[in-house]
Amino acid sequence: MPDRPIRLMLIDDDEEDYILARDLLAEIADSRFELEWLADADRAVDVICEGRHDLYLVDYGLGPRDGLGVIREAVARGAAAPMILLTGLDERAIDLDAMRAGAADFLEKWRLNATLLERSIRYSLQEKEHAEELERRVQARTAELARANEALRDVDRRKNEYLSLLAHELRNPLVPIRNALEIMRLAGDDPSVVETSRAMIERQVKHIVRLIDDLMVVARLSRGLIKLKYESVPVDRMVTTATENVRSFIAKARHELAVTLPAEPLILQADSERVSQVLYNLLHNAAKYTKAGGHIRLDVERDGEGEGVVFRVIDDGPGIPEDMLEAVFDIFTQVKRDDEGGIASGLGVGLWLVKRLVELHGGKVEARSGGGRQGCEFVVWLPTAPVDSEAA
Ligand SMILES: Nc1ncnc2c1ncn2[C@@H]1O[C@H](COP(=O)(O)OP(=O)(O)OP(=O)(O)O)[C@@H](O)[C@H]1O
Ligand SMILES: [Mg+2]
Repeated sequence: MPDRPIRLMLIDDDEEDYILARDLLAEIADSRFELEWLADADRAVDVICEGRHDLYLVDYGLGPRDGLGVIREAVARGAAAPMILLTGLDERAIDLDAMRAGAADFLEKWRLNATLLERSIRYSLQEKEHAEELERRVQARTAELARANEALRDVDRRKNEYLSLLAHELRNPLVPIRNALEIMRLAGDDPSVVETSRAMIERQVKHIVRLIDDLMVVARLSRGLIKLKYESVPVDRMVTTATENVRSFIAKARHELAVTLPAEPLILQADSERVSQVLYNLLHNAAKYTKAGGHIRLDVERDGEGEGVVFRVIDDGPGIPEDMLEAVFDIFTQVKRDDEGGIASGLGVGLWLVKRLVELHGGKVEARSGGGRQGCEFVVWLPTAPVDSEAA
């Protein structure tokens, strides 16, 4: 119930009814009502639809019209305030009709007293408030569902885009392989041509295998099927594996790679293959996204009193826009760059893998970048030994 006085309008052509209602309302101790009276039945629907009152008391016997008709019409025209139908002695039969017409309640005048009237008004107002609250909730929920639906459509669209990217990425290496085979066919048994072609095919096959391996790891990681194989390994061994694997990319782009290791040897309890894969992915990205002749660094240092180790992969390439620094770790996310003509190479899973594998080890990874061609830095922190006994 509102704090201010409750505004009521009685629509009734009989002044005696008005006096009765006014006196009953005056009897009610702690509720404040303001009662207005409209005797003109022809204006009833308009007045109700204006909605300047909290509630309407509508008499059934309204001269030429009946109160039921007024309520029905007002409801049809969208009247918001509750309406209570008042009837005389012989009109008990219209109770059901009143409900169907949209009346909030039905009161018989001859039985009316202050308590009954007050309670009926209170319940009718309360019910309207509940209905409005329900409506608000339904609307809020509908809006939520619409958003969820939109998000699903977005995921579906990204999946479709991704499928076509995947098809391209898997098909690309097949073109040079086919060319190499054709060259071999034309060259007959010229050993130098055969050797160049064979090396080319080998490189491309390696590339396809890496793509497919990545996808398989993604699938297994997503389903929680990857368990780390913990062992004691020197950090430099994992670093060497990663740098060896990335060497051909570094050489091809004439990048300079500088590796700094801590003075005294560091041993980690970790899955060495996975840690190498993490470092390889970061170095491979640095090599791939930096223009030829770039500078790449891998700095490894002990963190604190031997709790952990920090790996930093730093390049002087195009960098990553600030608003993408977290998103690059999301699966299938690639930064759109104008100078690539919109075509990025790769599957957009490398950094997702990095993050998952680092977190499986109980570590953290973070991307930093000054933006605007100032290069970027990927910082990986790993504990020297697994933190919880479950991981070990
Ligand atoms: N060193 C870097 N410099 C600039 N941008 C980078 C660098 N590393 C990653 N990125 C951006 O982050 C995106 C995501 O990298 P991620 O390694 O996950 O995927 P990818 O390299 O596109 O494909 P792949 O699955 O083959 O690794 C890249 O597409 C690239 O736009
Ligand atoms: Mg990558």
